[in-house]
Amino acid sequence: MGLTELKAPKAQGVVRFQVSANQELHLIVPQASGDSLSKFLTARGPGVYAMRFEVKKLKATRAFFRKKLPAKALRMGKTPERLIVLKEYAHGVQLEFVEEPKAQALLAQRYEIVEGQKLNKVAKKHAEGLYLKYCALCHGKNREGYAADNAPSLKSHSLMAVTKIPAANYNFLRYTIAYGRQGTAMAAYGKDQGGPLEALEIDLLITWLREKSGVKNPIELSTDPVLGDVALGKKLYDQTCAACHGVKGEGVSAPALGNPMFLATASDAFLRHAIAEGRDSTPMRAFNNKLKKEEIDALTAYIRSRASGWNAPGAVVIKEPLPKDYILNPKNKAPKFTLREGKYVPAEQVLQALQDKSRMVILDARSKAGWHQSHIPGAVPVPYYEEPDSFIKDMPKDKTWIVVYCACPHAASEKVVSTLRRLGYKNTAIIDEGILVWTNRGYPVQYGQGDVAKK
Ligand code: HEC
Ligand code: HEC
Repeated sequence: MGLTELKAPKAQGVVRFQVSANQELHLIVPQASGDSLSKFLTARGPGVYAMRFEVKKLKATRAFFRKKLPAKALRMGKTPERLIVLKEYAHGVQLEFVEEPKAQALLAQRYEIVEGQKLNKVAKKHAEGLYLKYCALCHGKNREGYAADNAPSLKSHSLMAVTKIPAANYNFLRYTIAYGRQGTAMAAYGKDQGGPLEALEIDLLITWLREKSGVKNPIELSTDPVLGDVALGKKLYDQTCAACHGVKGEGVSAPALGNPMFLATASDAFLRHAIAEGRDSTPMRAFNNKLKKEEIDALTAYIRSRASGWNAPGAVVIKEPLPKDYILNPKNKAPKFTLREGKYVPAEQVLQALQDKSRMVILDARSKAGWHQSHIPGAVPVPYYEEPDSFIKDMPKDKTWIVVYCACPHAASEKVVSTLRRLGYKNTAIIDEGILVWTNRGYPVQYGQGDVAKK
């Protein structure tokens, strides 16, 4: 075919060919009977199903094909925006064309966030790309929430309405995204916290989310404290709210209202607004027609009373382990793991392996900032959104056990483990319970200030 075979990575079951400067062809065979690839092949038979190409200008490519092909041969796809040529018109292989990613700096110049104005097309596209890459895993493809880890809806009008820039309540979303909520699956995404997003990109995401929810007139909430009867608030909370939010505000099926980060960023008026208006299309109903004004004030005051003395978090600096330190106890024996469904290792077996000083690699698949806040000792940060090329070359390909975890329980670690398995790493497993259960059980974790590289 006149294609050049690419050498690295020497993964089992994959061959890569250079097509042209930026184009590659990957041929993949399944690694095990019953894995997703072999299921697909059983259903559809082997073959090439689609090819994707990057082009300079999608518009120009579209104009070109319009001259050559009937209109019904072409279709525009969303997320990412792409032009599709149906397989019936392309020798049985669907062709997809996407626009080349533009440099970040160029984008920053090209979009502008102006209160009261819609985002321009470039900004919208960038925001959507960020959302799908970093947030959809848990908050859902359409911002509906509850795709994983009980992540709340980012679609609800009543939440998105309270994001007037530059009002103080706007910072609620900004801080939640930048700093995350320690102790929940919501990790920090801000660059200065070790996450992937520039401050500008966080603002862009918020503006985009608000626009998508159809908010026309954002509300500016008061910054005044809400005064209320704390004792009455406690009584009402225990009766009405604890079933979902937890007796100690720890969160059951709903966000943890006692979370220090939540209480540090949500103003009284924000809390009151959430209780009164609820969150449309979620289990959080509006209480303004069920409870009296004083009762909602009392609940607000009670929730606030849990937050006294908490300060905003500062950036934490910590060194990440170097590739030479990835294998824990390299001279020792491998651990004995019994996997559930061939994939999940119970946390207690991993604890045992740590105590026995067994030879293994532990990967943390959350946003890097999650790792910075706390992690299993010796774990290497390998965020689920990173391309395999960035870490795979440093992974031992000699049957060393590689165990992967995320917050709770599997979404991010599944992604990393399936990449590893696809590339031929067989001794891989997901820590079944995830880091939150691990932490709650009192198993060892290393917090931000501790320095892994020094150990
Ligand atoms: C691994 C799962 C996960 C990912 C990925 C994730 N989140 Fe979250 N997010 C959560 C959870 C869980 C909560 C609720 C935390 C709690 O219980 O307080 C949350 C809460 C939030 C909230 C607060 C909503 C509210 O009603 O208070 C915002 C805003 C948010 N996330 C935005 C984002 C954005 C933007 C991204 C992508 C940059 C993102 N999240 C990625 C799990 C996730
Ligand atoms: C049926 C379960 C349920 C009950 C009962 C309930 N909530 Fe909620 N609440 C939720 C859920 C779920 C959310 C998150 C909704 C979303 O945005 O996806 C939420 C969100 C909230 C929020 C916003 C949290 C955030 O992270 O932004 C506040 C504040 C709140 N509830 C307070 C209360 C109070 C006070 C009561 C009692 C009067 C109450 N809730 C009763 C399920 C419940």
